[in-house]
Formats: sequence, C-alpha cells, structure tokens
Amino acid sequence: MTATAEPAVVASEPNAEGYREFTFGQFHLRRDEYFAYITWPTGSHIMSVDAFLRALQRDVAWDFFYGTVNFDGVFGTVNHYGTVDVFAGRYNEAYRKAELDYSENVETPLIRETFKSILGDWTNETFDPFASPHETGSAFGVKNGDNTGAVGRERVTAKRMVGLPGDAPLRSDDTGHPINRMFADVTQDEPLVEAAPGFESEVSSFNLFRYLSRSDVTWNPSVASACKDSLFCPTTEEYILPIIHGNDRVEWFVQLSDEITWEVEDRDTGAVRARVVMKPGDVSAMPADIRHQGYSPKRSMLLVWENANPDLPDLIASGKTPTYPIDF
Ligand code: PHB
Ligand code: FE
Repeated sequence: MTATAEPAVVASEPNAEGYREFTFGQFHLRRDEYFAYITWPTGSHIMSVDAFLRALQRDVAWDFFYGTVNFDGVFGTVNHYGTVDVFAGRYNEAYRKAELDYSENVETPLIRETFKSILGDWTNETFDPFASPHETGSAFGVKNGDNTGAVGRERVTAKRMVGLPGDAPLRSDDTGHPINRMFADVTQDEPLVEAAPGFESEVSSFNLFRYLSRSDVTWNPSVASACKDSLFCPTTEEYILPIIHGNDRVEWFVQLSDEITWEVEDRDTGAVRARVVMKPGDVSAMPADIRHQGYSPKRSMLLVWENANPDLPDLIASGKTPTYPIDF
C-alpha cells in the first residue's frame, strides 16, 4: 500500500512582523503590517493585505472555483480541475505587451495546501476575510494570534437541497446563525409541508429568504440545491466581491433583493465591456468570455445559477458551445 504524501509547503521562519514567507515554484509571497508582496522571475506586485486575504479566502474555500480567480488586475489562478495555473500579469494587456507576465502550472494539492497555510498564517485573530468590512476587525498590524475557525469554514454544498434529512442543515439561532442586522425585516416563517406517508424524506421546502437573512458571510455562494449539474448557489453580498471572476462557462444571476452593480470586462485583456445594474427581480446571464466584479451598497441577496457540467470549459474553448447563453 502506498500512502499519499502531504504536499510539502515551503515556508520560512516568521519575519520581522511575525509572518511566514512562502515559496512555490518561482513565486515568493510575504506580508508585512499593511501589504502582501508577490515576486516572480519577471516582476513583482503589491496588494493591500486585507484585499489579498479576502481573495485568498475565496480561492481556498471554493477550491479554485470555475475558471479564473483574479485577486486584482495582476495576480490570480486558473482552475484546470487537477492542476492550477498561478499567474501574474497574464490577463493584463500592459503586462503582456511588456512581456512581464508569468504563469506556472501547479498540482492542485500543492497549491491548495500552500494557499491554506498562507491564509492561516497571515490572518490575525481580529480579521474574518469572509465577513463584510463592517462586521470584522482589522487585517493589519504585526502578527496577532489567528482565526482558525473563520478561515476554515466549509462551503455549504447540499447534495440535494438544504433542509432535507441528512443534507446541509437549515440556519437558526440554535445553529449560531442570528438574523443579520440588514435583514431584520425578513419574514422568518417556514412553509408547511404535508408529505404523504413514506415521502417524508422526498418532499421538502424551506424559506430561502430566512435562510439567507441568517448568512454570516458575504460573497460566498452556497450550493443550496442541486439537480444533476444545475446548481442553485444563493449568497448574501455586501461591499465588493473580493475577486474578479473570469468564468469558463455561462453563469446566471437572479437579484433577489436590494441592488448590485457589476463591472464587466474582457476576460483576457481587462478591457471594459459593460456595467450591469441589477435590481430586485432582475435576471442576467454572464457570458463565458468575460470577467466580472460586483458592488453591493447594502447587504443583498443574489442567486447564482451554475452549470457544473465538467465538459463545458473544453466545449466553450473549442468553439463547440457558444460563449453566450441563449439564442432568441
Ligand atoms: C461570481 O463570480 O459569479 C460570484 C462569486 C461570488 C459571489 C457572487 C458571484 O458571491
Ligand atoms: Fe462569476
């Protein structure tokens, strides 16, 4: 029998501010009191460490998500579902033209463990990268404890639907999910289900608005129901989506409450393509050749509808499936 070895994360001893420095391939990452610093053979980059940790938290929790996770206009990852490209400047026209861009393909287990270690070491006790800026303490300063509970949160991924027996549970005060301050007016009643005998585990229903009013995180779509490859991923949003998502498939948005402004850019160059303002009841489809970032001035409820078919990236990249969702 062969044991699967844990990939070896390469980290230094704590630096002057108390944080470890990390190396994978030819990338080097370090932080100080305010910033994250990234270097690669042809260049270097600096980001505010709160923004860096918010992006890193999502890349870790979503296991590199669908397609591209841009931490900003320079640094990010592309998921190849088994390996991950870590890049700098690859999707930035100016870096490309200056030939300063760089990308490295890394086995998923190594980059997963490395990113988890960075997130764990660089997140202080006061900071929750998933919380809205209004509901967390500071990311800044010298090393000050850690927040293992927050950074280790598991993403909700219902197998059939939340609330079904044996599936992801509903949220209540008892599960540690009080109603968020911005959703105090959301009705909390649950639908009455009268299942015929023998169908108790097959027929179910729940109040999605109540469920979302009790989310303690922002910009973190949960799989609340799944029908084959069709995933309903509702989420609550406040402030700015901490990543710029470059999709490898079409994705639908249904605005359930309040308002989100989406900045939409060309996926590869970052050229501006559209601004989409979504009000309650609005539905939009994001094409498969763009990247987008959302701005939510009040905590809002958004339904993200994903198609998890693993063949889609190749079908779209090869032109067999269009980048747009529908022909009228
Ligand atoms: C997206 O990239 O489509 C996305 C990510 C996180 C969210 C909402 C949308 O919370
Ligand atoms: Fe997206």
